[in-house]
Amino acid sequence: MAKKILVIGSSGQIGTELVEGLRARFGNDNVVASDIKEPQVKMDGPFAMVDAMDRRGIERIIEKYGINEVYLLAALLSATAEKDPAFAWKLNMESLFIVLELAREGKLKKVYWPSSIAVFGPTTPKQGTPQHTIAEPSTVYGISKQAGEQWCAYYHKRYGVDVRSIRYPGLIGWKSTPGGGTTDYAVHIFHEALKSGTYTSFLDRGTQLPMMYMPDAIRATIDLMEAPAEKVKERTGYNLAGFSFAPEDIAAEIRRHLPAFKLSFAPDHRQAIANSWPQSIDDSAARADWGWRPQYDLKGMVEDMVLNLRRTVGQG
Ligand code: SER
Repeated sequence: MAKKILVIGSSGQIGTELVEGLRARFGNDNVVASDIKEPQVKMDGPFAMVDAMDRRGIERIIEKYGINEVYLLAALLSATAEKDPAFAWKLNMESLFIVLELAREGKLKKVYWPSSIAVFGPTTPKQGTPQHTIAEPSTVYGISKQAGEQWCAYYHKRYGVDVRSIRYPGLIGWKSTPGGGTTDYAVHIFHEALKSGTYTSFLDRGTQLPMMYMPDAIRATIDLMEAPAEKVKERTGYNLAGFSFAPEDIAAEIRRHLPAFKLSFAPDHRQAIANSWPQSIDDSAARADWGWRPQYDLKGMVEDMVLNLRRTVGQG
């Protein structure tokens, strides 16, 4: 059977780049993008407007295009979720249940659902956080990701649903903008560095968090989905590591390209969320099970970001 993919939440930070990556690999017409809002960039290929909580609407798209794989990316992220915990829980859980149920009913062969380092909490070991460890999240986003992971594992074990997941660290890319996350500063900082030469970070000096460059995250996602089922041993979410840094570390790297760049600090409510998360991640399970290796370090990521944003935004 030909692969036909539906990406729900295709207009967001990950969706924008994942659709492009999937289309490059499997062909434009075999990847249907869908969201409740228009795409961030012009896209070649089918697009459908659908709410991730509209089961009938999703089923109609599955039938119309003969979809057999779904990547469900729609969610409220960590900072936004704290503003409306009840809605965040509803959106993040209901949308997952819809696709898990569709897979259980045999209407989908494979499901991808993103998890996050937010499944961890203040009692988790902060350095080299293991795949299996204490996970007592203190944000509604983290609670929804942790519960979702357990539902994925349950549907796999109980019903044989082939669902796969990655615990993304903060993701940094130039093709799309993030919305509502605690790690978003690491994208905003580039835009402001090029535009005004200054940036005020909403996370304080010394706030080290695990991060990853988007090309690595997209490659990991597709590689995990393409791995033979028996290699996917973790059916909650895989730890994945790129590199870790604090705001002043990324600023120092940016200064290699923009020497006059100035960083200041004005921590807000997102500081408490960042403080509850790990500082670095042990991803040996992903490496051993399906061959994950990151390609970018902090230096390589910053170089590529500055190069591409200079070209596309035409500043600096
Ligand atoms: N980067 C996300 C956020 O900050 C975590 O998954 O919300």
